[in-house]
Amino acid sequence: MNYTFGDSAIASERLAIVGHVMAPAMRSMLSRVDASSVRTAIDLGCGPGHTTRRLAECFPNASVVGIDLSEAYLAEAAANAPDQCSFVVGDVGAAPLPGAPADVVYARYLLSHLDDMEGYVTRWCAAVAPGGHLVLEEPEAIDSSETDFALYERVSSGLVQSAGGVFYAGPLIAAVPTPAGFERVHDDTFSIDVTEGEAAAMFWRNARAWDRDALKRAGYNADDVMALADRLQVREHSPTRGLFDWRQRQTVFKRV
Ligand SMILES: C[S@@+](CC[C@H](N)C(=O)[O-])C[C@H]1O[C@@H](n2cnc3c(N)ncnc32)[C@H](O)[C@@H]1O
Repeated sequence: MNYTFGDSAIASERLAIVGHVMAPAMRSMLSRVDASSVRTAIDLGCGPGHTTRRLAECFPNASVVGIDLSEAYLAEAAANAPDQCSFVVGDVGAAPLPGAPADVVYARYLLSHLDDMEGYVTRWCAAVAPGGHLVLEEPEAIDSSETDFALYERVSSGLVQSAGGVFYAGPLIAAVPTPAGFERVHDDTFSIDVTEGEAAAMFWRNARAWDRDALKRAGYNADDVMALADRLQVREHSPTRGLFDWRQRQTVFKRV
């Protein structure tokens, strides 16, 4: 499968904003794991390294390995990471995974872009050390009654679907059976508090990063989508809150 959102400079800018907006959710989730027990961690589909740096911050005694297919993202990640982080170009479907077995295996916004969710969860569980955790974060729902935000969400999830993924992977994770030898120690949604400006800043960059051919294959008119990006861009500094019901699925499996 191709990763729909690309690794251009503008796609990276979007992930930096995502990293900032989602930091409270990620910190809250990782605080469920006893940091003193974590010596090794893997960040699957680490992109430009925002999640990898956050893992290093939450687990200061750990060596953290970021894995991604994008050499451009990994070069950016390596340039901005503390010494405890290292990066490997690779496929998250590989076995064994670089850095395995690890005390924490973490993936954010990755299962959305992969098929065979249960297969990946099983493979990633194989990379978890005894007593360790598989930690997953994926979108559960992003709802807005505001026309352009709702339109953006339809196009974004349609594009991911046409590439073989499921953008709202959260409900599917909730339905995945708990892998043998693991306990589901946490499974809930976290409400994301986002301003109109933050949402617009993430969305217009993503819309501009989309490949015109991929949009066409998914049944969208690229010029209409770029016009949507223009309308979203002018809203990027708005401090208004309350336009979204935005929830993130957070799931933790512990090896028993
Ligand atoms: C939406 S980005 C998320 C990046 C990071 N986890 C974050 O939350 O900021 C998804 C990342 O997964 C990577 N990716 C997609 N499929 C992959 C695969 N099969 N193996 C390794 N990386 C993959 C993409 O290159 C991209 O960097």
